[in-house]
Amino acid sequence: MPQRSQGQGVPSDHTGSPSASASLDPQDWPSFRAQGHRMLDDILDYLEHIRERPVWQPMPGDVREQFRAELPVAPSELSAVHHQFMRHILPYSNGNVHPGFVGWVHGGGNAAGMLAEMLAAGLNANLGGRDHSGVEVERQIVEWMRQLFGFPKTASGLFVTGTSMANLIAVLIARDAALGFDVRRAGVAASTKRLTAYASVAAHESLPKALDCCGLGSDALRLVPVDHRHQMNLAALKRMIESDRRAGFTPFLVAGTAGTVDIGAIDDLDGLAAIAHQERLWMHVDGAYGALGILTPEIAPRLAGIEGADSLAFDFHKWGQVPYDAGFVLVRDGELHRKAFASAAAYLARETRGLAARSPWPCDFGPDLSRGFRALKTWFTLKVHGLDALGDSIARTCQLARYLEQRVAETSELELLAPVQLNIVCFRYCSVDADRVNARIVMDLQESGVAAPSTTRINGALAIRAAITNHRTNSSDIDALVDATLALGRALAAQVDVEDPQLEAVLHD
Ligand SMILES: Cc1ncc(COP(=O)(O)O)c(C=O)c1O
Repeated sequence: MPQRSQGQGVPSDHTGSPSASASLDPQDWPSFRAQGHRMLDDILDYLEHIRERPVWQPMPGDVREQFRAELPVAPSELSAVHHQFMRHILPYSNGNVHPGFVGWVHGGGNAAGMLAEMLAAGLNANLGGRDHSGVEVERQIVEWMRQLFGFPKTASGLFVTGTSMANLIAVLIARDAALGFDVRRAGVAASTKRLTAYASVAAHESLPKALDCCGLGSDALRLVPVDHRHQMNLAALKRMIESDRRAGFTPFLVAGTAGTVDIGAIDDLDGLAAIAHQERLWMHVDGAYGALGILTPEIAPRLAGIEGADSLAFDFHKWGQVPYDAGFVLVRDGELHRKAFASAAAYLARETRGLAARSPWPCDFGPDLSRGFRALKTWFTLKVHGLDALGDSIARTCQLARYLEQRVAETSELELLAPVQLNIVCFRYCSVDADRVNARIVMDLQESGVAAPSTTRINGALAIRAAITNHRTNSSDIDALVDATLALGRALAAQVDVEDPQLEAVLHD
């Protein structure tokens, strides 16, 4: 542990009062401003010329060492720290700004959203509550989302980190509504009811995690089988609910998915809404990336029924292209939402005027008290680009998925592993040792800097998964992915290194 420097009391001016120069503000604003402009130029250059860079590159050992440094007790020049950023951080980023990034389901961000994030940091607003413009911007987005998804005027909404958190919030509200809000004080152990929830086997892992975090246990989430298009089998759902009721359980929630993480399937949300209504279940929709498909006429009809949900979780940072992070939860009954999280603390007293006015506040709708201004980068993104352009970029990613599907179909060395329904294509290079070969192809592709897909398993088979989410991706990126996959596949099929420990780790993960 480095020693703090000694003998530095609070600096004071000649009157003996603490001096203004002791603040952390720049001593020399003009040079700070010039440095700030250089930083802005560098990051705009990065965005403008992103295609000239590798999609991703591994961080060399000596660069990684830079992040094992001593605590920075003494100050550094801003320009020096920026220089380190340019050398050691920027080149080794995630890569999802790059159009060749098709791994997982990552949005590409956008330049206007980035600038908004800088403005938000300047305001340093805390959106936990109180009466200020930041909270009004968030309320504006709640209202826009309420209209977009056809929720009633009673609805509430909240920005959160991502859909994992949004799913957790939805499950908590549903749990409290089922057990009574006294569960917040008494805990789930005090209840005699054994709650069960339902989602398809294709649901995201954040749902069992949400049940775990709610104290119900992940086993309480029953996994309903899917059909060949990965849509939840509704007849099986009904049978499972009946059987649980007979066994003394209390079914309380069903979660549909709009855009499954593996292949982009959309559950029959209308059908689910009917069952939820009949069985008196809370209907949640995990629409992490698929929900914003409502912005394109091609996908919107497939989301019919979403307007009947009790809660909806989705991310602006995926198909919405808002810079990370910008998750969102929309809840049909805002009063239930508030009752699940509001608490009384003397230091958070509400008033009828002044800064503490205009209750309820965002902190009454979720676990966070201090909250950043995620709403601003979302507000800028929606206003600067407009919903039509965002919808067009979503439609384009789906067209590119169909183009990739076609290229796979035309290439005898490649095979499609799942039907293409939105923007995700699961395929692989045909080979006798296909799991090993394709795992290796994906790692090699990522390290080549040409493309960055990820992997998943479809019916047990390892698939190359291209989730085309970035608004910058075009058909030349898809061609580059296919061509590089073929070149690597041909080279690898002949000589798979079965002793490769990295590959073994992936295969046994
Ligand atoms: C269907 C689905 N649900 C939930 C999540 C989790 O979202 P986040 O990573 O924003 O927490 C994802 C992430 O890809 C997803 O695809």
